[in-house]
Amino acid sequence: MKDKKVKVGILFGGMSAEHEVSLKSAAALVKNIDRDKFIPELIYINKEGHWRSIDEDAFNRQDFAAKESHSFIPWLNRPLDKIDVDIYFPILHGPNGEDGKVQGLFEMANAPYVGANSFSSALAMDKGAAKLMFRNAGLKTPDFLVFSENDADEIKEQVSQRLPYPLFVKPNSLGSSVGITKVRKEEELKPALDLAFKYDRRIIIEVGLTAREIEISVMGNEKIMVSPPGELIPGNEFYDYADKYLEGKTTFNIPVKLDEKTGKKVKEMAGKSFRALYLNGMSRIDFFIENKTNEVYINEINTIPGFTEISMFPKLWQVEGITYTGLITRLIKYGFEYHKQFRFSCDWNEKL
Ligand SMILES: Nc1ncnc2c1ncn2[C@@H]1O[C@H](COP(=O)(O)OP(=O)(O)O)[C@@H](O)[C@H]1O
Ligand SMILES: [Mg+2]
Repeated sequence: MKDKKVKVGILFGGMSAEHEVSLKSAAALVKNIDRDKFIPELIYINKEGHWRSIDEDAFNRQDFAAKESHSFIPWLNRPLDKIDVDIYFPILHGPNGEDGKVQGLFEMANAPYVGANSFSSALAMDKGAAKLMFRNAGLKTPDFLVFSENDADEIKEQVSQRLPYPLFVKPNSLGSSVGITKVRKEEELKPALDLAFKYDRRIIIEVGLTAREIEISVMGNEKIMVSPPGELIPGNEFYDYADKYLEGKTTFNIPVKLDEKTGKKVKEMAGKSFRALYLNGMSRIDFFIENKTNEVYINEINTIPGFTEISMFPKLWQVEGITYTGLITRLIKYGFEYHKQFRFSCDWNEKL
């Protein structure tokens, strides 16, 4: 990058259950970003969705109320103060940050940004839609059914005809294991459905596998890099919210040594699934390896994965010799590259 430093607008916080996780990811990003190349500009989004520019001192004190906030949507409040940055780096997890909404705003503003485009982000966040795309690409994923609240009367019957227990009942578009229940028998179905419907108008019911949980990082645009696999071993029966964020009993093997055939298969599926959702930028892709068959299933793709120094996504790159700081630089470059090559340029305009 040229002699002038690049101003990177780091967006963090956000209107999701993963607000606090985002604060941690952002802190690691700010700490490690290469100051010879970049100037971080901190933009905090509170839980109500209001945006605030934060100076670094306030950020380090975790004082996010230091300045007056404003709605991002200019016509709802007062005009947005122009934020003077060269590229945005949303480090927001979950709904409103990872699901394409904020990415759509950047696209509308013709602004470069780091990470997946709005459509792919939305696809990846919608578990049912993503699984259809995976299936369509010939990738195995646990069998599933998606229901909306209107289908409530048919759920039991459809499930009994089509899906064997145990099952996982989940909100269709959430994250962080919020609202997810493992259901072992029919009597447990109703409370699991009620819980999942609390969080989402659509829910997904999946066949539960007894499996290892393997994750891979992918980054790039047209040309992609695929990391070695890592494994997480949940402390609880599955990788639920408490295990993820409260109890910290999960153990991680980074990297994990799989047998050669399975290792190859997982990496190949990682690349294919990234393409299957038309992705760009970065992703952490989560798989199951079924204990009894050794079959690889794709579970889901996270387009803004956990980004602290000890998170799986950067840790897997470290195995490849890419430092956390080097990773940030790469992702920013991919953001500029994508903006230049694939999007927002109205070349038809010039032809008129
Ligand atoms: N079909 C399944 N079979 C076995 N375990 C599952 C299945 N689906 C989810 N899980 C368990 O639940 C956890 C959270 O599910 P996941 O679909 O990854 O939701 P989230 O988007 O909230 O991370 C997984 O990491 C895994 O431990
Ligand atoms: Mg998950």
